[in-house]
Amino acid sequence: MENTHMRLRRALCCALSAGLIWSVTGCDPLTRHKALTSILDGYPTLPPVEELCKEHVERVKAAALKDQANAAPALSAAVRGSEHSPYKEKRCNDCHKADKGGASGGEEGLLVTSRENLCFTCHKDLLTKPFQHGPAAVGDCLACHLPHTSAYPSLLTTNKAALCAKCHTERRKAARMHDLFAEKGIACDNCHDPHAGDSAYFLK
Ligand code: HEC
Ligand code: HEC
Ligand code: HEC
Ligand code: HEC
Ligand code: HEC
Repeated sequence: MENTHMRLRRALCCALSAGLIWSVTGCDPLTRHKALTSILDGYPTLPPVEELCKEHVERVKAAALKDQANAAPALSAAVRGSEHSPYKEKRCNDCHKADKGGASGGEEGLLVTSRENLCFTCHKDLLTKPFQHGPAAVGDCLACHLPHTSAYPSLLTTNKAALCAKCHTERRKAARMHDLFAEKGIACDNCHDPHAGDSAYFLK
């Protein structure tokens, strides 16, 4: 992305071949104006950038449209929601304390066991592998999942692309490698299991 953009910009500015000012300042109107006003003392007004950088502007617009088109399938995939089967089957009392013995258990959402243990009562095999992901290991399943239904697949709280970034804002040790994956749009869970794994970093 960055590289193509740089190359486009360089190619364009060379094509215009206006020499020093252009190669130093490119097509960004503000930096160009700043440079012009400092190189040419008293340079009066900013010429309309669309006029001088027509091709550049068109390319940026085309790229934005293409990005939008690429984003569309991801959005419609997110719309495919999910429903937890015990919730769908109205087995509320599997998770909630029954109300006065009635079938309407869960009116207040009181749980049969602690939040940290609840999910393991059924999902016993989730953490059988030796390397375990922090939030899953401590039973904080609700950091990533909703208990009843979700607008996203796998009862996730948000779409997969945004999920990991919610917590992992720290710089990666293998930063260059990860930047490259991100540039290519490879999602984290293509390589990392979200729960646990047989090797460090739960690599698949
Ligand atoms: C798989 C376990 C599970 C099942 C099945 C389940 N719930 Fe829940 N429910 C939860 C959890 C977990 C919470 C969140 C509790 C918390 O945040 O501490 C919750 C929260 C609630 C709440 C509190 C308000 C809210 O939505 O956060 C209500 C009310 C509720 N559930 C009703 C129901 C009803 C009615 C059913 C059956 C149709 C049901 N639940 C089935 C696990 C379950
Ligand atoms: C009473 C048993 C029970 C409890 C408790 C329970 N689950 Fe489930 N869960 C199920 C069953 C049954 C399925 C469907 C299993 C399957 O399709 O293999 C399921 C499926 C799931 C799925 C996959 C959904 C999908 O659409 O692919 C997720 C995610 C999940 N559970 C998370 C949780 C979380 C988080 C908790 C704790 C809040 C929890 N479960 C507690 C029984 C339970
Ligand atoms: C860091 C976020 C995260 C946490 C914490 C987390 N999960 Fe998940 N879980 C995911 C993602 C992402 C998927 C979807 C995986 C896929 O599509 O391959 C998933 C899928 C699942 C599934 C569907 C079957 C499978 O194994 O892929 C179940 C069941 C499940 N999770 C249960 C749990 C339970 C129980 C906990 C708590 C012990 C938990 N999860 C904690 C992110 C998380
Ligand atoms: C709710 C917050 C949260 C979310 C969401 C989350 N993580 Fe984590 N993650 C943690 C915590 C806490 C640790 C443990 C930190 C540590 O050990 O330094 C961790 C550790 C890790 C590690 C191991 C790091 C190490 O140095 O051993 C990897 C890999 C990882 N997470 C990947 C992911 C991926 C991939 C996702 C998305 C599926 C994700 N995480 C989502 C909180 C989160
Ligand atoms: C193409 C595979 C791949 C993808 C995609 C990927 N990772 Fe990694 N990740 C790795 C590998 C391989 C390592 C081990 C690097 C090492 O040994 O230094 C790693 C290491 C990590 C670590 C621990 C060490 C570090 O560099 O900080 C964390 C945390 C992590 N990844 C999180 C993520 C998150 C979050 C995403 C999504 C934004 C992601 N990874 C996407 C392959 C991947």
